[in-house]
Amino acid sequence: MKTRVLKINDVESDCSAILEAARLIQAGEVVAFPTETVYGLGANALDAAAVQKIFEAKGRPSDNPLIVHISKRQDVDRLIKELPSSAITLMERFWPGPLTMIFKKSPLIPDAVTAGLDTVAIRMPRHPVALRLIECSGVPIAAPSANRSGHTSPTMAQHVLDDLDGRIPLILDGGRCDVGLESTVLDMTAEVPTILRPGGITYEMLMQVLGEVRVDDGALKPVKKQQVKSPGMKYTHYAPHAQVVVVRGEPHQMVARINVMAEEYAKQGMKVGILATQETKAYYKEGQVLVLGSRKQPATMASNLFWVLRRFDELGVDIVLAEWIETKDEGLAIMNRILRAAAFRVIEA
Ligand code: TXA
Ligand code: MG
Repeated sequence: MKTRVLKINDVESDCSAILEAARLIQAGEVVAFPTETVYGLGANALDAAAVQKIFEAKGRPSDNPLIVHISKRQDVDRLIKELPSSAITLMERFWPGPLTMIFKKSPLIPDAVTAGLDTVAIRMPRHPVALRLIECSGVPIAAPSANRSGHTSPTMAQHVLDDLDGRIPLILDGGRCDVGLESTVLDMTAEVPTILRPGGITYEMLMQVLGEVRVDDGALKPVKKQQVKSPGMKYTHYAPHAQVVVVRGEPHQMVARINVMAEEYAKQGMKVGILATQETKAYYKEGQVLVLGSRKQPATMASNLFWVLRRFDELGVDIVLAEWIETKDEGLAIMNRILRAAAFRVIEA
């Protein structure tokens, strides 16, 4: 299959490309499209056969459910059983945007989407191309991140092409995704709304609205497979080809320890990458140093993370030594992803 890439500079003047993508969705095909978080690989969420093609293209395990994307608040009504009033408040505050909520599903949603669970994950993205595509398709769009299963999520059309060239018919190229990490997944069926996957809508932001929010144990720790509430969290994700090791401690201790480790690995003939911050980059002596951003701007660091992880692969490093980032605000989502990339290998500085 030939994969075409259509550039969208503006949803109005490039509407023919979006219409073409919408026709593919209606015909039961898959299409990659930009959202504000990462690129998604979409199909008609009400068509089990179409959804099956997503799993095939990604090589995704069929027990990992998908997020259903909608373009209007009312779209949610026929997809779920009950809508808690707290969810309405969250929709008013954070939709469209990087917040996915989990509800009891209606019979309209095929089992292929939810991996047989009785709940469904729903979000309204805020990227204009995503919104227009859903609107023109006239159906909700089920979409995981548009990467091969286990790889880092794509934040540029080129990343999608790197992973899925020849496996899907079309990629809509809307430029770089600004949030850069996948949406926050919030379980609204739990007694207290619970963050299953931290993302761009932070714990602090949700607390301000809800007053009570939990963070699932799996956010920063490996959990036993049987206890996982969000199936996606049990897989090794976001993994660059290089091995990743996280170093935790006070900034000066982290830097000192990373410098020692970098020297040792370099002596063994390994090509070392260092995942640094603006504040620390000047102190490293060895290796390929890539900067996530300033520790004072966690949203910017989040936005750069996947791009930087892919860059280490392009540079061909064998090992990445990553600084620990404080888990406040977007820092929680950043460490959630880095720890998975590192398979939870953490060294105390
Ligand atoms: O930002 C995003 O959320 C992107 C863009 C494309 O919207 N999508 C995305 O999808 O990250 P995906 O499939 O890579 O991640 C979906 C996550 C997985 O961890 C999955 O297990 C979880 O959401 N999930 C989906 N439905 C669920 C459900 N009913 N219960 C618990 N977790 C669910
Ligand atoms: Mg994913």
